[in-house]
Amino acid sequence: MSSILDQPPSGTDLPSTEELSRILSGQGPDDRLFAAAREALFSSVGVGVYLRGLLETSNKCRKNCLYCGLRRDNSNVFRYDMSAGEILSAMETGYASGLRSFLLQSGELPDDRHLNLVEEVLRRSNEAMPGIRMVLSMGELPAETLNRLRKAGAHRYLLRIESSSSDLYRRFHPGDMLHDHAARIRVLQDLRSSGWQTGTGVLIGLPGQTAEHLAADLMFMKDLDIDMCGMGPYLPHEDTPMKDLPDELPTPEERILLTLRMIALARIMMPTINIAATTALQTLDPRGLEMGLDAGANVVMPNLTPARYRREYNLYQGKVQVDDGLGEMLRTLRRKCSTLSRKVMTGEAGDPVHYTLRTGSGDL
Ligand code: 5AD
Ligand code: SF4
Repeated sequence: MSSILDQPPSGTDLPSTEELSRILSGQGPDDRLFAAAREALFSSVGVGVYLRGLLETSNKCRKNCLYCGLRRDNSNVFRYDMSAGEILSAMETGYASGLRSFLLQSGELPDDRHLNLVEEVLRRSNEAMPGIRMVLSMGELPAETLNRLRKAGAHRYLLRIESSSSDLYRRFHPGDMLHDHAARIRVLQDLRSSGWQTGTGVLIGLPGQTAEHLAADLMFMKDLDIDMCGMGPYLPHEDTPMKDLPDELPTPEERILLTLRMIALARIMMPTINIAATTALQTLDPRGLEMGLDAGANVVMPNLTPARYRREYNLYQGKVQVDDGLGEMLRTLRRKCSTLSRKVMTGEAGDPVHYTLRTGSGDL
């Protein structure tokens, strides 16, 4: 029987959910999985590691996801908003070091005050820093709002589906209108069909999540024909209702391995997309960044959020706090990449090859 580890799947020839589940549950073998992922990476997108400067612009959120430390009902959080000036000045620092793409991330805040601020940052940053790509990750927004932000200068949008299973989604979110799985899928489909470079991803290692759930997540992403993917291990936070489920939690080692297998399979199934080595992976293991890149990731997100805000942006506990400054961080990253035969791509926006191929645009 042919395996996706021998022969990468073509458009029509998808791996079965059974095969994906087998690989995810460790009946791999892993060495062949990671070798196949590296081959797909090098032949489709090359050795480049692209940078996105991360700005955690506000930790306020109207949602109440049961796993998240920033959920509305957690009153143990000092809530902040960065000003437009603070965001732009952090971006300028990144731009001076060669960063050409920036991610504005916040909780879900669809009010005018927040949207006006984002719009202003988009306008002013595109004017001041030619050639940049602006990435937004700020939850589910109405189609007209998304249009408005795209016109103001945003290029990419990240909205994790968290889980493609509506059952699992329901288990980890309140059952109200604000947390509607079908509505979230519709926002993703709208993003994908309206010109955005579209990214999604899932949480890995949630209590009760099976290899079959994760296999279905990969199929969901393939089906949606995404351009970008960001996936990370679930990490508990003690100020959330999920602190009481530690018995059902896979061990940190299991969650790391599951995440690496998911990255490798995503690379094999969707070879030309951009895949991030996420902070959550680095939080579970000091070598998380290198392991993520070696499994098939090609995007790293240096955190440019000023330290006094960054320490309040705790989706989960134990977030790595690198306070070396950007120059030192980039030197460390270059060193790590060279040992993996990879190259840090400063001065480049790094549009997903997948997007460039499907639209005939971008910076290829
Ligand atoms: N562990 C890991 N990731 C988390 N996120 C939220 N809470 C946690 C947690 N406890 C992720 C979600 C969200 C992204 C911004 O952060 O996937 O989409
Ligand atoms: Fe808000 Fe995102 Fe946290 Fe959910 S995961 S509570 S939407 S910040």
